[in-house]
This record gives sequence, C-alpha cells and structure tokens, in this order.
Amino acid sequence: MLLLRIDMLFDGTTIFVTGGAGFIGSAVVRHLLDHTGAHVVNIDKLTYAANLSSIPQAAGHPRYAFAKVDIGNAAELRALFERHRPHAVMNLAAESHVDRSIDGPAAFIETNIVGTFTLLQEALRYWRGLDGGRRATFRLLHVSTDEVFGTLGADGLFTEKSPYAPNSPYAASKAASDHLVRAWLKTYELPTIITNCCNNYGPYQFPEKLIPHMIIKGLAEEPLPVYGDGQNIRDWLYVEDHARALALVLANGRVGETYNVGGRSERTNVDVVRTICDLLDRMAPARAGSRHRLIGFVPDRPGHDRRYAIDAAKIETELGWRAQETFETGLEKTVRWFLDNRAWWQAILDRGYEARRIGVIPASGQAK
Ligand code: NAD
Ligand code: TYD
Repeated sequence: MLLLRIDMLFDGTTIFVTGGAGFIGSAVVRHLLDHTGAHVVNIDKLTYAANLSSIPQAAGHPRYAFAKVDIGNAAELRALFERHRPHAVMNLAAESHVDRSIDGPAAFIETNIVGTFTLLQEALRYWRGLDGGRRATFRLLHVSTDEVFGTLGADGLFTEKSPYAPNSPYAASKAASDHLVRAWLKTYELPTIITNCCNNYGPYQFPEKLIPHMIIKGLAEEPLPVYGDGQNIRDWLYVEDHARALALVLANGRVGETYNVGGRSERTNVDVVRTICDLLDRMAPARAGSRHRLIGFVPDRPGHDRRYAIDAAKIETELGWRAQETFETGLEKTVRWFLDNRAWWQAILDRGYEARRIGVIPASGQAK
C-alpha cells in the first residue's frame, strides 16, 4: 500500500476539528498547525471543558479559524460546511467525563448521540453535493474510546473485533455514536472511519480527570482520593501520540475501518498516583514529608470498569504508527508541564471549578 506523507496530503486542505478547544481536540489542532499544511476550522460549543488558550499558536495564524457552534445545531453546521468547504471532518466534540455522566447523563445524550447524528446528517448533505474527485477523498473521522467495549478481566486485550458492552452513561453514549457513524457508512456510503483510544494524559487536560487531578491536589498537598481498592487498570497514552495517530488515520486509514489506539502502558490507578507523588516529591519537594501520605481510598465509582487494555497491532502494522512516549517519559513531561503552566489551570480553579467528588449516586438515586 502507498502511504502518503501526512504533510503533503493535508497541504492546502481544510479540516473541520470539532471539540478543538478540548483536551485531545486542541492537541489535534496544534499538531495540524505545527506539522501539516492543513487549514483548520475549530468548531466548539465552549463548554466547561473548553479552553481556547490551549492553542497558543492560534492567535493570528493564517491557517486557523474558530467557530463557536454546537454540533447539534444543524443550521449553523450547514453554514460552516458551505462557507469553508472542508476536505475532512475530525469529530472530537463530546461530553467526556464518566463521573459527570453518572450525575447528569442528559448532556451526554444530547452531544454524543444527537450531536453526532446532526453532524453526520450535515456532512452527508455536504458530501452528496461534492464533485466526483472531492467526494472520493472526503473523510469523516469519528474519535471514540475503548470504554465502549466495557471491562476486561485479568487477561486479554480489546481488538477491533471486541463486542460493544458499555457500562457507564458516557460509554453508552459513545457506543451509540459509533453505531450511528457505522450506519451512515453502510447505508448512505458516507466515507467514515472510527478510532477507539485508551485513556489519554498530557498537557492541557481538564483537572477533573485522574492524572491532572492528582498533580494539582498533590502540589497543594491535599488528599489524593483513589476510588475503590485502586487496582482498576487503565492503558495510558500521551495525548500527542494520539493526535499523531488521528492525523495518520485520516491520511492513510481505510474507509469503513475502525482502528484501536493504545499505549501498551497498563497501570493500576494506585500505581499512577504513587508515580505522580514520586515525580512531585522530586520536582517540587513537599513541605511535610512525601506525598504518599496524602493517598486515601474513597468509595468506588458505580459501575467502575475494572480493566481496559488496547491491542494496537492493527494501527501499528497497517499504518506504521507507534507511541513515541513511554508512560514514564510522558508522565514526567506532564507533571513538568503542570508545574510550569500554573496560570493555565489556576484560571480554571479561579472561575469556579471546585475539584470535588462527583459521580456517587445519592441516597435518593435521582439523576438530573
Ligand atoms: P474534553 O471534554 O476535554 O473536550 C471536549 C470538547 O468538546 C470541549 O472543548 C467542549 O467544549 C466541546 N464540546 C462539547 N459539546 C459540544 C457540542 N455539543 N458542540 C461542539 N463542541 C462541544 O474531551 P477530550 O478528552 O478532549 O475527548 C475528545 C474526544 O476523545 C471525545 O470524543 C472522547 O470521547 C474521546 N476520547 C477521550 C479520551 C480521554 O482519555 N480523554 C480517550 C479516548 C477517547
Ligand atoms: P478518569 O480520568 O475519570 O478516566 P476514565 O474513567 O475515563 O477511565 O479516571 C481514570 C481512573 O481513575 C478510573 O478508574 C477512575 C479513577 N479515579 C480515581 O481513582 N480518583 C479520581 O479522583 C479520579 C478522577 C479517577
């Protein structure tokens, strides 16, 4: 198979990145601006999780545009398709936090399912109006998660053939969106590709997620809450490795395929937290002894998946992708980034993010 160079392929093209103000979306935008010739249109509703300062190179960039648009708004999406005439869409707009999905699943249904449906409809309408050449090369890349596969036992890995068995409202909404994307491919022949990735970490991650939460709490020498027995396992990938994988799949992936993306870096949660304590103790010594003293076990998350682990053989062999960071190098870079970029996360705390425990079902069992 002829693999096209990403920078050559994207030169002069326009790519819609939905959710480009979020954690992974902003890494994708930074990657496209810094390492390809693509014009990027960042389409983002700007929820609590968004941060336009996560794309420092955007200001005045000749190949960057931003549109504050909800992917559930068909009319505004249609206007964007007509104005910018994109060659591809990368869909990263989503509600993404499992604990929030337990307390308030409605937003997950709206954005992850109805929003994806709306985006598919508008992409289909636009794609049908393209001429033959442009129709043949158009792609819609839908970015998803390994959480759609549910939980693993002690052995085995998720492959592209693993059955869907989502356990959280978040995972179920992402699974539903994946099914819609597949159906728009099979029924309408919209040229789509899906990726399912493991847990990401790295710069600019909103502090509700495990790793930034523990870095920020650890720095402040506040309690580090590990859910359950801390033996749940996640497979960790540095976010820039994911961004490179997505660009590669968009450039060279086969229409109709799904690609699992993973870092071959399984760790128990408590090991992740202990490693963060060690890195912080070395880089920013604590006032009163090692931060290991701050680790505590708190009531478990309802429906907490025990283990995720990705078999990344397909993307590795078919597209030649490899993670460049190990968990150790990536985590050290991440801790260093949070130490050096306090203004970025302090602004999130200052505008009211409280970093308190959520996602524990109240006695009344009421969900919003
Ligand atoms: P994030 O929560 O950091 O960012 C999501 C972005 O989407 C935000 O900027 C938000 O404003 C935007 N958004 C939300 N609803 C929108 C809407 N209706 N219209 C337009 N924009 C909207 O999420 P993330 O961690 O960057 O995840 C991005 C994608 O990658 C998601 O689809 C997620 O399921 C998937 N994913 C995430 C991980 C992970 O570890 N974070 C792993 C695998 C897959
Ligand atoms: P999270 O970052 O929310 O990602 P996901 O639920 O999508 O895997 O959580 C990662 C793991 O860390 C998950 O097993 C839950 C656990 N966790 C804690 O133990 N303590 C915390 O404070 C958080 C936020 C997560």
